[in-house]
Amino acid sequence: MAARYKLPSLEGKIIAIDGPSGSGKSTTARLLAQKLGFIYLDTGAMYRALTWFALRHDLPTGDAKILEVIANRLKIEFKADGDVNRVYVNGVEVTEEIRTPEVTRKVSEVSAHPEVRKVMVAIQKELGKNGHIVAEGRDTTSVVFPEAHVKVYLDASLEARAQRRFLDMTRSGVKTTIDEQKADLIRRDKYDSTRKASPLKKVRDALTLDTSHLTIEEQVERIIKLIRTKIGRL
Ligand code: C5P
Repeated sequence: MAARYKLPSLEGKIIAIDGPSGSGKSTTARLLAQKLGFIYLDTGAMYRALTWFALRHDLPTGDAKILEVIANRLKIEFKADGDVNRVYVNGVEVTEEIRTPEVTRKVSEVSAHPEVRKVMVAIQKELGKNGHIVAEGRDTTSVVFPEAHVKVYLDASLEARAQRRFLDMTRSGVKTTIDEQKADLIRRDKYDSTRKASPLKKVRDALTLDTSHLTIEEQVERIIKLIRTKIGRL
């Protein structure tokens, strides 16, 4: 179990981390939350859960109205289990199912519907209303928690991101290549940063961290350092 950091002035605060796919957000945010004893909120997993549900029930991923109704009814839950953040939809565990290439291919289309985002953002705000949370995604620094006390924008080169995705997928038994991962990242980056509703962007008050040459432990250490500097000024 990772050692906890004692940062009393961080009590009840919100830490928001955004960045493109493969920048290391999920692992960094999860570890950071663990070290601080905070809740970890993976907002991407919520869009993935909805996409998984739509595909599972043959619902059209282009139909915003249907997806909005479903988003309002789905019960998405998270349970921390050691190094795994388990995800449940209506009581059924979908931790692995939401990471399949099929879901990954469709999730950007689903998350681009403003109607869907409205529902998800409201749930995310509710989850963070008491602070004490590390949230990560594409719009946590800009739309979900614009009031976050610490905002971080994680970035990394396409090469590094594709390499990480390739290793993750290969480890989970999916056959793929680095080139395939590169193509998928380029497609998702474009979709996520050019959509009308809450596109991925770096907000002015976010601290940028390029993770291309950093290990996950180094990323977490850097962010803790940034937090220490920042909260000294809060
Ligand atoms: O972070 P992850 O890759 O799991 O996110 C999956 C997809 O969910 C992203 O490609 C993006 O389309 C969408 N997403 C989003 N807003 C967030 C988090 C994720 O639109 N806050």
